Amino acid sequence: MKAAAFLAVFLIGRTSARVLPRGSICPAQSATEFTITKPAYPESPYMTDLIVREGDNYLNLGTLSHTKTGKYLLTPAISSSNAGKIVAGSNSTYQSTIYAPRTLGYLLIRIVLKDQGCDVKVVNKIQEGFSTNTIERYGEPIGPELNGNLFANISYPKVENLMGLIARFDETIPPTNDEPLPPAETISELSLAGVGKDGSYQRPTCVNLAEAYKAANSSIVNYTRSLQFVKNLSNGWVMPRPSLIGTYGDNYKARAAVARFGYLALTNDQALYPVYLREFALGANESYTLRFTGKPPVTDVGFWSVTLYNSEKQLVSNSIKRYSLGDRSNLTYSDGNLVYGTKNNGPFDILVQASKPPTNWTPK
Ligand SMILES: *[C@@H]1O[C@H](CO)[C@@H](O)[C@H](O)[C@H]1NC(C)=O
Ligand SMILES: *[C@@H]1O[C@H](CO)[C@@H](O)[C@H](O)[C@H]1NC(C)=O
Ligand SMILES: *[C@@H]1O[C@H](CO)[C@@H](O)[C@H](O)[C@H]1NC(C)=O
Ligand SMILES: *[C@@H]1O[C@H](CO)[C@@H](O)[C@H](O)[C@H]1NC(C)=O
Ligand SMILES: *[C@@H]1O[C@H](CO)[C@@H](O)[C@H](O)[C@H]1NC(C)=O
Ligand SMILES: *[C@@H]1O[C@H](CO)[C@@H](O)[C@H](O)[C@H]1NC(C)=O
Ligand SMILES: *[C@@H]1O[C@H](CO)[C@@H](O)[C@H](O)[C@H]1NC(C)=O
Repeated sequence: MKAAAFLAVFLIGRTSARVLPRGSICPAQSATEFTITKPAYPESPYMTDLIVREGDNYLNLGTLSHTKTGKYLLTPAISSSNAGKIVAGSNSTYQSTIYAPRTLGYLLIRIVLKDQGCDVKVVNKIQEGFSTNTIERYGEPIGPELNGNLFANISYPKVENLMGLIARFDETIPPTNDEPLPPAETISELSLAGVGKDGSYQRPTCVNLAEAYKAANSSIVNYTRSLQFVKNLSNGWVMPRPSLIGTYGDNYKARAAVARFGYLALTNDQALYPVYLREFALGANESYTLRFTGKPPVTDVGFWSVTLYNSEKQLVSNSIKRYSLGDRSNLTYSDGNLVYGTKNNGPFDILVQASKPPTNWTPK
């Protein structure tokens, strides 16, 4: 395991709001405070990523951004110019105030691990350093309450269901005092598609949703594979173009393309997501070697890992409980020297096979 992640869903903007730390509902008041205390293990880098339901990663706090420990206030944006911004010094109670572009979103906290037996303990200790609390906010309630009602009475067939939800979630956009937050094109296209301002969806009679869905899917699948969207690395690897991942503006094709393989992907200053495009099967008596021509460079707080998933996108179970390997896994060159322990920078291999690795492969 290379990084542990935990997720909180938050809702701000109401006189009665909710923070949902994984499953449990805490009643709350209208704005969210969250506290980052000094990490118990300062050598374990962490990231706190703020992402909206539509997938925009509008802010990242943590080791990479040299975030100060302390209390942060998360409150709905009041103007289009402060949406998604962090402002220090506006209130002495807080390190900074964060102006959220939606009343609903995710706080994704990730901790880089050292790949050792005590990882879970380390994560639990670091988790204690994060807390959220909701406090009173002045002003009119904004947006729907975060509860089952958001999903209630949506009894249409599948695609209409999604459109209905889009309409309801539209209400989580704070009404700013200048430009509206979604781009004008988005507003007019949603309105053409039947998504009303009152949170309701009415299918335009001329639209065959099943056909529209097929066309949209086909167009996004094509786009996902196109060089418009991906940068061609080499040997069958590609990567979404940096400007097309993490934040999307009115580029809904890129938004959908990323959501297909990595919903809640971060901006490129935080993470890179190279993808191997060719599909391959691995027989019980077959092996792959994944060859690195040299060691991927990492900064003090950076890491990389390779994780094996099956066609259902689940981790592949194995008797040696090895799911992922990377810079912290004591990988060695064929001469036995540590890849990340020497100045050498030759090629090294990762062996992928169903049977146990031979004893001259490390880590043991
Ligand atoms: C700072 O925020 C707290 C909590 O919302 C509030 O009680 C306090 O009045 C604010 N202080 C200033 C100077 O605005
Ligand atoms: C769902 O429908 C029922 C029955 O029509 C109605 O009483 C209720 O208010 C509706 N709930 C929502 C969230 O629309
Ligand atoms: C979308 O299109 C791809 C490629 O044509 C196809 O494999 C996939 O099943 C489609 N997905 C849905 C949900 O229809
Ligand atoms: C996607 O690509 C396929 C194969 O090249 C093509 O038949 C199809 O028309 C394309 N779909 C769209 C929406 O462009
Ligand atoms: C990437 O480049 C290689 C060689 O330059 C080429 O063979 C391959 O088709 C390209 N891949 C894509 C997705 O365009
Ligand atoms: C690999 O396994 C398949 C059946 O799973 C078998 O037919 C084949 O002979 C095996 N190949 C070798 C080289 O052992
Ligand atoms: C890497 O080696 C160090 C030193 O021998 C050891 O403490 C650590 O547990 C090893 N890590 C892994 C992932 O094997």
